[in-house]
Parts: sequence; structure tokens; C-alpha cells
Amino acid sequence: MQSENLLKASAFMSNSSPGPASPSTNIVPTKPQHGKLAQRFPSLQKKRGIAAVVLVVLLIIGGGLAGLAALPRHGGGGNAEGSGSGGSGDGSSISNDAFFYGQSPPVYPSPNMTGAGLWAEAFTKAKALVGAMTLDEKIMLTSGTSSKTSCPGFIAPIPRLNFTGLCLADAGQGVRGTDFVSSWPAGIHVGASWNKALAHQRGLGMGGEFRTKGVNVLLGPVVGPVGRVVLSGRNWEGFSVDPYLAGKIVFETVQAVQSVGVMASTKHFIGNEQETNRVPSGGIEAVSSNIDDKTLHELYLWPFMDAVKAGTGGIMCSYQRLNNSYGCSNSKALNGLLKTELGFEGFVVTDWGAQHAGVDTALAGLDMAMPTGDTFWGSHLATAIKNGSVPQSRLDDMASRILASYYKSSQDRGYPSPGVGMASDLTKAHTVVDARNSSFRSTLLDGAVEGHVLVKNIRNALPLKSPKMLSIFGYSARNSDVNTPGGIISSWLWGAQSNDIMELLTGFGGSGKVGKTSISFNGTLIAGGGSGAPSQSYVSAPFDAIAQQAYDDGTALFWDLTSAKPFANPNSEACLVFGNAWATEGQDRPGMHDDYTDGLIKHIANQCNNTIVVLHNAGIRLVDQFIDHPNVTAVLFAHLPGELSGRALTSILYGKSNPSGRLPYTIARNETDYPVLGPDLPQGQFLKFPQSNFSEGTLLDYRHFDAKNITPRYEFGFGLSYTTFNYSNLAIEKANTTSSGNSTALFAEYPSGAVREGGPTDLWDVLFRVSADITNVGNADGAEVAQLYVGIPGSDSVRQLRGFEKPFINATETATVRFELTRRDLSVWDTNAQKWKLGSGKYNITVGRSSRDLPLVGEVVI
Ligand code: BGC
Repeated sequence: MQSENLLKASAFMSNSSPGPASPSTNIVPTKPQHGKLAQRFPSLQKKRGIAAVVLVVLLIIGGGLAGLAALPRHGGGGNAEGSGSGGSGDGSSISNDAFFYGQSPPVYPSPNMTGAGLWAEAFTKAKALVGAMTLDEKIMLTSGTSSKTSCPGFIAPIPRLNFTGLCLADAGQGVRGTDFVSSWPAGIHVGASWNKALAHQRGLGMGGEFRTKGVNVLLGPVVGPVGRVVLSGRNWEGFSVDPYLAGKIVFETVQAVQSVGVMASTKHFIGNEQETNRVPSGGIEAVSSNIDDKTLHELYLWPFMDAVKAGTGGIMCSYQRLNNSYGCSNSKALNGLLKTELGFEGFVVTDWGAQHAGVDTALAGLDMAMPTGDTFWGSHLATAIKNGSVPQSRLDDMASRILASYYKSSQDRGYPSPGVGMASDLTKAHTVVDARNSSFRSTLLDGAVEGHVLVKNIRNALPLKSPKMLSIFGYSARNSDVNTPGGIISSWLWGAQSNDIMELLTGFGGSGKVGKTSISFNGTLIAGGGSGAPSQSYVSAPFDAIAQQAYDDGTALFWDLTSAKPFANPNSEACLVFGNAWATEGQDRPGMHDDYTDGLIKHIANQCNNTIVVLHNAGIRLVDQFIDHPNVTAVLFAHLPGELSGRALTSILYGKSNPSGRLPYTIARNETDYPVLGPDLPQGQFLKFPQSNFSEGTLLDYRHFDAKNITPRYEFGFGLSYTTFNYSNLAIEKANTTSSGNSTALFAEYPSGAVREGGPTDLWDVLFRVSADITNVGNADGAEVAQLYVGIPGSDSVRQLRGFEKPFINATETATVRFELTRRDLSVWDTNAQKWKLGSGKYNITVGRSSRDLPLVGEVVI
């Protein structure tokens, strides 16, 4: 139903789904195309001067154009059906956004928060405070402003009402851009650990550091990108391409972070799957992720459901367009999916500079504009409220959602002052706020250890046994030459110590530049680049940790970390070769392997019959160039372990830890085996409006390999241990009562529970309980990741992950693992009913070591 105000407002809409727009009548100014860099780095102009800006802008413009020519093509774009005017009709380039109107369904009005469930008390307090606020004060709450801190986002205090303001800071792997904090394992590393309890511990430790620093809102965790585009630059920030695995880990992370009083802002909602053309630039709009309703629900929305279920205080809307409507003005995504279907009670914040309209975004469900609201909100929002374009109730709801999240986290009581530990310039003398907490040292180490995945280990190459001589090769073994804060254009601030800061910054403006690198040659990787990079203040490099161990063992150590064709001493008992695969925000990766590193590995393997390869990979990295070389005896995917990288690796190499990581993605034999390799580019009619059609539906990663019968090199869920586990005794039990005690509704076709955070409450009713025994039949103690997959009738996928547990089992002992299958786990999205549907039929239940090694087989019938 359209309200009167909405009808008035439609005259001012510039760029969204409903109705024809008349940009010329816009009272809200259109965003200047070249204001992007200033928006992204608000302090850049002020502090470092215009010269630096000009330099970067020049690079961006040059690099962006060149990048278009250089990037790989994926045949996805180009066949979107337009419903409005704007196309030329003769096949030439579409020039007007009106062509796309209607592709994303309009959902209005924006639902007000209800204060249901756990939000009741916070909602009451928020409403009282909002009631005492003036129009200007409410507007201040909704828009970022500058501050004397290094918080990338800041909401001004309102002293009259004892509101102290809010600091918003990156990101998912530790506080960025400050000192005296830890560098936690990155998202991909946590995903590879398949360890829910450890993910929770990490959330507690990391959240505590945000709190001590006076960060009110942690800008993470990441569950979008999901990882559709294998070469996407930000996949490493998320946990897994599998929505169930990502969902379980994000749930733990959000709960843990928020349990110490920090608001999480789960991002980027939704369909943010490529970096190329992620933002509008040079007259080209941001790419549109064109996703059908079923795929949207079953894949991309799934982990966000878990984050909302966990109570995430914030959700960050994304840069790109969803079905041709910008992420932060998409009423279907924000009002519809998030605030109606998922019953989200918190606030929606823009990605930085992702607001492209004023009235539109307000009506579509946006609550906070970052890093500034000046362009579209601020005084413009006041005008829109006064003339009725935006209802007063919408502004009150924005303010209530922000304040309720703040109260729900008890940030009104004894919370450190916003940004207290976020010095604006680390190169100048400043007060030290040490946020590290020594009781989380073991979590940092366990987290680093458990994300390593051993995929090859022949002739007992690992663990090492006090070798007499060891040789080390490759650029990723040692620390970078420099690790020190410098201004906004410093490698340190963006995690580019081992790479090239100018290359990284180029990506912030558009589609990347020619010659972007696959690897970081200047040292080891503990994280990827961009806003997800943590602030390194200590790094245990693999080389240093191994050297320490070599000293203890009396091992002779030789190394050549720079040559492409180094000499390997023939007396080496083992040769360790270190490579990496680099990825950063702002641009997509140029490839899935690189000839330099592959050549180096083969060169060493030709000389050394015990060549052990360690790859720090910020994304999927292919290994077929060398994997079958008879002298390559072991291969470890070391992912992005955070600051205790070397210490963790050494513990695995020498058998003090038993490897227990499993691949959170599939490693193919060839690039072409993946359904979507690289980003979509502007092409054909869509030169100004790049299109990315998600035509593969839900068939990503192992779903695709299974459905198309493609043999991977290493399948999803795979990983070796120093011991062996046997599986037996599968037992399946049908539940007979719902959580509410209502047994008749348990197997009903559709859920009927009230919508609370995450969706209808009965989606979480347990329908089946499954158990299995796992026996450690080897000689080493260790942890096993038991995985449960379900074949859902009527689904495109052969099987889908629907349970995993990670018991630690001593040699010769047996553990019983238990899984619960909920209504949600067994349902598919019914596009007609617009509900999750529990179909009738036979569900295959398999349990085992990986997605392709499933010794226990059973079924249930509904
Ligand atoms: C990123 C976000 C980040 C924000 C603030 C944006 O460029 O996409 O993930 O939180 O910047 O730094």
C-alpha cells in the first residue's frame, strides 16, 4: 500500500525500483561522480592535501579504463529484460536508468521496528529518547560526521541528552587503523577451521578489543560476498561459499561480539559478489546482481538469516545494485527481505559512499548514511521531512532502531568513550590504549592452527622429525620489510605491506589496473587487503618460527627467499616452499594460480625429493601445475592465519598440532570447472549499466561439481589429519514435538510461527536428530570434522551441508557426534507461496569426512 507521503515522494525518486522518475525535479541532489574518493577517505583531503588525492584519482581513472580491457570475461551480462523506457530500441547502448524500472519489486512502506522479544526494553528506552529529540538531533543520529578519531564512521554526541555518540570501525578480523590490537585469523581461515566454539572464542576476544578501543559498531562480519565469483577480491573476508557453514560461523561471531557489548554490523547486504564495477564510476553505474527469488533466499540471504537470528544490531547495505536497484535504496531488499521477512529490528547502515539518493533511501529502509549524510540527508532530509516527502514516522523509526541497538548492547552504561583508543594520527604522540587481552592468546593460536588445511601428505613427509638439514624457499616465508603506520596512503593501513599500496588504492576507484598481481612478493600474508585488513603490530612469520625450532633441534638451515630458480642443497631432508595468493577489496584477482610460484615449486621439486608446499591463499588457489610431481610430498593451504601464522604453522609442521582444517570451498583441476570464474563487465547494450546475471542459481561450488558430475582436485570439506577416523552407527530419530509443544504443526508444509529475528520462529523447530560414532583408529590424537549432507527432494543440488561437528578424539577412542535437522534445514523457498516449504518425499542423509567421502548413508521420509 502506498502512503500519501510515498506518492508525494515518488516525484523525487532518482534511481530506484518504483515508478518512473523525473530526475530533473529531484530536490535531493544527485551524488557527484568524482566525489567518491573524498567520501571513501574523508580525512584524506583535510590531512594529506590535495596533491595526494589528485595522484590517486589519476591512477584510478587511468587504471580503471585499462582494467576494463584487461579483465577476464564471463558470459553473464547482456540479456536483462528491460521494462521501462531508456533503451534506444535499436540495440545501441542503454542510456537511461528508467529502462530497468520494475525489475526489483517495490516494497513500501518501511516497517517500523516492533520491539519484539529481546528488544522490548531497549525499544522502550529508545522511544523515550527519540521522543525527547528535536528534528535536527534525530537527523544527526542518522548521518556520519567527522571526528578527532580514526574511526572511519562517527555519529556525533548529543550532550544535552547524555548521548555520547558512536564510533564505527572495521572490520571482521580485528580493529583496523590503530595500534595495540591483535590481528585475528581472517574469515576464510575461520571457515576452514569448521569450529563453531573457536569462532565464538574469536568473537569474544576480537569484540573485547573493539570495546576497549571505544568502537561501538564493528563493521563486520562478512557473509556477502558469498563467493559466487571465484576470483572476487573479497571472498577471503567471508567464511565460506557454503551458506550453511557461513551461517553457523556468523551466528557464533555475532553472538560473541555482541555479548561483550559491541554492535555487529553484518555486511554487505546483498549480492555483493564482485569488486569490478562495484561502485559507479566514469558514467558507468555499479554492476547489477540479477538474482531470482529462489536463489536469493536459498543462497545469498541464508547466512544473513543466521546473523539476524543471532541479533545483529546492524546490517550494512552494499555498493552494487540488486536487480538494477542500488543496494541502499532497494526497498525489496531492505523493507521486504530484511525488515519484513527476517523481522530485523536493528538499523541499516550504508557501505561507505553507497548512498545515491535521499528520499529513495529513506523510504526504502535505510537508517544511517556513512561516512557522511551531507550529500543526500542532513539538511536535505530535514527538508524532505518538512515537506512530507519522507514521513516523520520513518525518521523516528531510523532513530529508534539505532538507539535500540545501542541500549540493547548496554552502551549507555560504562561503555568506553567513542573512539577513545582510536588516535587520529598514529605517527604523532598519542595516548596508548592497549586493547589486547592476554587471556585470548591461546584463541589466537588455536584459530591460526585450525584454519590450515593439509591436502597432500605422502611418504610420511609430515610431521617433520628433527631434520638434520632443512631448506626454505619462496617470498611468503618471511615478514615484509616494513611494518609501520604512516598516513592514509600507507600500506599498513590497508594491509598491503607485502604488496603495492598504489595498486591497492587504484582498486578503490573502479575496475582495477593492468598488471595487478596474483601474489604478494614482499613477504608473507596474514590477511588480505582493504578495509578488512587488521592492524599488524606483531607478526610471527613462518621463517622466524621455523628458525627458532631449527635452533632447538640443532637443524642446519639454508634458505633463498628471493630467487626464481634457487639452488637446493642435496642434503636437505625437506625443502619448504612458500607462496601466496593475494586478494584485496576494490579489485578482483587476475587468476587462480601464477606461473612464478608454480615454476618455483617445480624447480625445487626437481632437485629435492621431499618438497613441502605452503600456500597463504586469500581465496581458492589451483595446484594442478605441480600437485602430481612425485617429489611434492606435502601441500598445506595456510590461508590467512593472522598474527600467529608462523607459530601455528610450525606447530603443525612438527606435529605438535594435528591438522584439522577442512576446505570451505572446492579446489578444481581447471579454472573452467567453476560455474563463475571472473567478474561480469559492461558490454553490449549494457555498457553504462553492467549486468551480472546469476543464471547458475544455487549451483555454486560443490553443488555445481556434484550436479554436473565434475571431478574436483580436492572437494569441499576435504582435509587430511595425522591420524585416521572411522565412521559407524548412523542413527536417525524423528522428533515428535515442536519447541512450543505443538506436535500437529511439526511437519506441516509451511511454517506458521510468528516472525521474530531471523524469520518465522518454527523454522528452527528440530524435526530429526542424527548421531554417528567416530573412532580414532590411528596413532595421533586429533580433531575430526564430521559433516552431514542432505539430499532434499525437488532441490537442484545433489546434496547440501546441513550439519558439522568437530570433536577432539584421542587415539583409539570413540566419540558420538549429534546433529539436529531443523525445518529450515530441510525446506526450499516456494516462490508462489513466498514461504519456506517443507516438501514431502525421501531425504537422503549422509555423514562423513567431506562432501565426497560419506560412508554413512540413511534417509528420512516426510
Ligand atoms: C567497505 C566496507 C567497510 C567500509 C568502511 C568500504 O569500502 O566496503 O566493508 O566497512 O568501507 O571502511
